[in-house]
Amino acid sequence: MTLDQDLSYLLYRSRALFSEDDLSNLEILRSAILFNACNSITGFLCRDANFFVQILEGPTHTITALLEKIRTDPRHEDLELLETAPIKARDYPQWSMGYAQATVMPETTFDKMEPAALRDLIKTASISQGRKVIYNLR
Ligand SMILES: Cc1cc2nc3c(=O)[nH]c(=O)nc-3n(C[C@H](O)[C@H](O)[C@H](O)COP(=O)(O)O)c2cc1C
Repeated sequence: MTLDQDLSYLLYRSRALFSEDDLSNLEILRSAILFNACNSITGFLCRDANFFVQILEGPTHTITALLEKIRTDPRHEDLELLETAPIKARDYPQWSMGYAQATVMPETTFDKMEPAALRDLIKTASISQGRKVIYNLR
Protein backbone atom coordinates (compact mmCIF):
# COMPACT_ATOMS: atom_id res chain seq x y z
CA MET A 1 0.00 0.00 0.00
CA THR A 2 1.13 3.51 -0.75
CA LEU A 3 0.61 6.29 1.74
CA ASP A 4 -2.95 7.59 1.73
CA GLN A 5 -2.45 11.11 0.43
CA ASP A 6 -4.67 12.72 -2.20
CA LEU A 7 -7.51 10.34 -1.36
CA SER A 8 -10.92 10.57 -3.03
CA TYR A 9 -14.02 8.43 -3.30
CA LEU A 10 -16.62 8.08 -5.99
CA LEU A 11 -20.06 6.53 -6.14
CA TYR A 12 -21.67 5.44 -9.38
CA ARG A 13 -24.70 3.50 -10.55
CA SER A 14 -25.05 1.43 -13.71
CA ARG A 15 -27.46 -1.00 -15.31
CA ALA A 16 -26.32 -4.63 -15.21
CA LEU A 17 -26.59 -6.61 -18.44
CA PHE A 18 -26.77 -10.06 -16.83
CA SER A 19 -28.70 -11.57 -13.96
CA GLU A 20 -27.93 -11.61 -10.27
CA ASP A 21 -26.95 -15.29 -10.24
CA ASP A 22 -24.70 -15.08 -13.32
CA LEU A 23 -21.06 -16.07 -12.80
CA SER A 24 -20.06 -12.75 -14.37
CA ASN A 25 -20.55 -11.17 -10.94
CA LEU A 26 -17.76 -13.29 -9.51
CA GLU A 27 -15.53 -12.70 -12.53
CA ILE A 28 -15.90 -8.95 -12.07
CA LEU A 29 -15.12 -9.31 -8.41
CA ARG A 30 -12.07 -11.44 -9.03
CA SER A 31 -10.43 -8.98 -11.44
CA ALA A 32 -11.47 -6.08 -9.22
CA ILE A 33 -9.81 -7.57 -6.14
CA LEU A 34 -6.59 -8.36 -8.00
CA PHE A 35 -6.26 -4.92 -9.60
CA ASN A 36 -7.45 -2.91 -6.63
CA ALA A 37 -5.19 -4.65 -4.12
CA CYS A 38 -2.15 -3.72 -6.24
CA ASN A 39 -3.29 -0.13 -6.82
CA SER A 40 -4.30 1.09 -3.37
CA ILE A 41 -8.00 1.02 -4.26
CA THR A 42 -10.67 -0.04 -1.80
CA GLY A 43 -14.45 -0.05 -1.98
CA PHE A 44 -17.66 -1.97 -2.17
CA LEU A 45 -19.93 -3.18 -4.98
CA CYS A 46 -23.65 -3.94 -4.55
CA ARG A 47 -26.22 -5.10 -7.01
CA ASP A 48 -29.96 -5.58 -7.01
CA ALA A 49 -31.87 -7.35 -9.77
CA ASN A 50 -30.95 -4.78 -12.41
CA PHE A 51 -28.45 -2.25 -11.13
CA PHE A 52 -24.92 -1.98 -9.76
CA VAL A 53 -23.81 0.64 -7.31
CA GLN A 54 -20.14 0.87 -6.44
CA ILE A 55 -17.97 2.97 -4.18
CA LEU A 56 -14.31 3.28 -5.15
CA GLU A 57 -11.78 4.98 -2.89
CA GLY A 58 -8.11 5.61 -3.50
CA PRO A 59 -5.69 8.11 -5.05
CA THR A 60 -7.77 10.52 -7.12
CA HIS A 61 -6.10 9.90 -10.47
CA THR A 62 -6.18 6.12 -9.94
CA ILE A 63 -9.91 5.87 -9.26
CA THR A 64 -10.69 8.36 -12.05
CA ALA A 65 -8.76 6.26 -14.55
CA LEU A 66 -10.37 3.06 -13.24
CA LEU A 67 -13.84 4.58 -13.57
CA GLU A 68 -13.20 5.30 -17.25
CA LYS A 69 -12.10 1.69 -17.78
CA ILE A 70 -15.15 0.37 -15.91
CA ARG A 71 -17.40 2.69 -17.94
CA THR A 72 -16.46 0.88 -21.16
CA ASP A 73 -17.06 -2.60 -19.69
CA PRO A 74 -19.73 -4.32 -21.83
CA ARG A 75 -21.21 -6.12 -18.81
CA HIS A 76 -23.14 -3.00 -17.84
CA GLU A 77 -24.39 0.26 -19.37
CA ASP A 78 -25.65 3.76 -18.55
CA LEU A 79 -22.97 4.36 -15.93
CA GLU A 80 -23.91 7.46 -13.95
CA LEU A 81 -21.37 9.12 -11.66
CA LEU A 82 -23.41 10.20 -8.61
CA GLU A 83 -20.80 11.60 -6.24
CA THR A 84 -17.09 12.20 -5.99
CA ALA A 85 -15.13 14.14 -3.39
CA PRO A 86 -11.80 14.21 -1.53
CA ILE A 87 -11.71 12.22 1.73
CA LYS A 88 -9.32 12.19 4.66
CA ALA A 89 -9.77 8.50 5.46
CA ARG A 90 -11.23 5.42 3.83
CA ASP A 91 -14.65 3.99 4.75
CA TYR A 92 -13.70 0.55 3.39
CA PRO A 93 -10.02 0.09 4.34
CA GLN A 94 -10.46 -3.67 4.73
CA TRP A 95 -12.05 -4.29 1.33
CA SER A 96 -10.06 -4.41 -1.91
CA MET A 97 -13.55 -4.83 -3.26
CA GLY A 98 -16.43 -6.17 -1.20
CA TYR A 99 -19.58 -7.47 -2.80
CA ALA A 100 -23.17 -7.94 -1.72
CA GLN A 101 -26.41 -8.68 -3.50
CA ALA A 102 -29.29 -6.65 -2.15
CA THR A 103 -32.86 -7.85 -2.12
CA VAL A 104 -34.92 -4.68 -2.18
CA MET A 105 -38.56 -3.70 -2.34
CA PRO A 106 -39.83 -2.55 -5.76
CA GLU A 107 -39.97 1.05 -4.54
CA THR A 108 -36.36 0.97 -3.39
CA THR A 109 -34.59 -0.47 -6.39
CA PHE A 110 -31.23 1.26 -6.83
CA ASP A 111 -32.46 3.45 -9.69
CA LYS A 112 -35.03 5.05 -7.38
CA MET A 113 -32.65 5.84 -4.51
CA GLU A 114 -30.82 9.07 -3.79
CA PRO A 115 -27.01 8.95 -3.57
CA ALA A 116 -27.03 9.40 0.23
CA ALA A 117 -29.43 6.47 0.63
CA LEU A 118 -27.28 4.33 -1.66
CA ARG A 119 -24.21 5.20 0.40
CA ASP A 120 -26.04 4.09 3.56
CA LEU A 121 -27.17 0.87 1.91
CA ILE A 122 -23.64 0.04 0.78
CA LYS A 123 -22.28 0.72 4.26
CA THR A 124 -24.91 -1.53 5.85
CA ALA A 125 -24.19 -4.27 3.31
CA SER A 126 -20.46 -4.04 4.02
CA ILE A 127 -21.03 -4.41 7.75
CA SER A 128 -23.26 -7.44 7.41
CA GLN A 129 -20.94 -9.04 4.87
CA GLY A 130 -17.89 -8.22 6.96
CA ARG A 131 -18.04 -11.52 8.79
CA LYS A 132 -17.35 -13.39 5.58
CA VAL A 133 -13.69 -13.39 4.68
CA ILE A 134 -13.95 -14.97 1.25
CA TYR A 135 -13.61 -11.71 -0.71
CA ASN A 136 -11.54 -9.91 1.86
CA LEU A 137 -8.01 -10.28 0.55
CA ARG A 138 -6.37 -7.25 2.08
C1 LIG B 1 -19.88 -3.17 -12.19
C2 LIG B 1 -18.41 -3.38 -12.44
C3 LIG B 1 -17.49 -3.06 -11.45
C4 LIG B 1 -16.12 -3.24 -11.65
N1 LIG B 1 -15.24 -2.90 -10.67
C5 LIG B 1 -13.92 -3.03 -10.89
C6 LIG B 1 -12.96 -2.64 -9.91
O1 LIG B 1 -13.28 -2.20 -8.80
N2 LIG B 1 -11.64 -2.81 -10.20
C7 LIG B 1 -11.22 -3.32 -11.40
O2 LIG B 1 -10.01 -3.42 -11.62
N3 LIG B 1 -12.10 -3.71 -12.33
C8 LIG B 1 -13.43 -3.58 -12.12
N4 LIG B 1 -14.32 -3.96 -13.07
C9 LIG B 1 -13.81 -4.66 -14.28
C10 LIG B 1 -13.23 -3.69 -15.29
O3 LIG B 1 -14.29 -3.10 -16.03
C11 LIG B 1 -12.30 -4.47 -16.26
O4 LIG B 1 -12.98 -5.54 -16.83
C12 LIG B 1 -11.10 -5.04 -15.51
O5 LIG B 1 -10.44 -4.00 -14.82
C13 LIG B 1 -10.07 -5.72 -16.45
O6 LIG B 1 -9.75 -4.85 -17.46
P1 LIG B 1 -8.51 -5.13 -18.47
O7 LIG B 1 -8.60 -6.59 -18.79
O8 LIG B 1 -8.78 -4.23 -19.62
O9 LIG B 1 -7.28 -4.75 -17.71
C14 LIG B 1 -15.68 -3.77 -12.90
C15 LIG B 1 -16.62 -4.08 -13.89
C16 LIG B 1 -17.97 -3.89 -13.68
C17 LIG B 1 -18.96 -4.24 -14.76
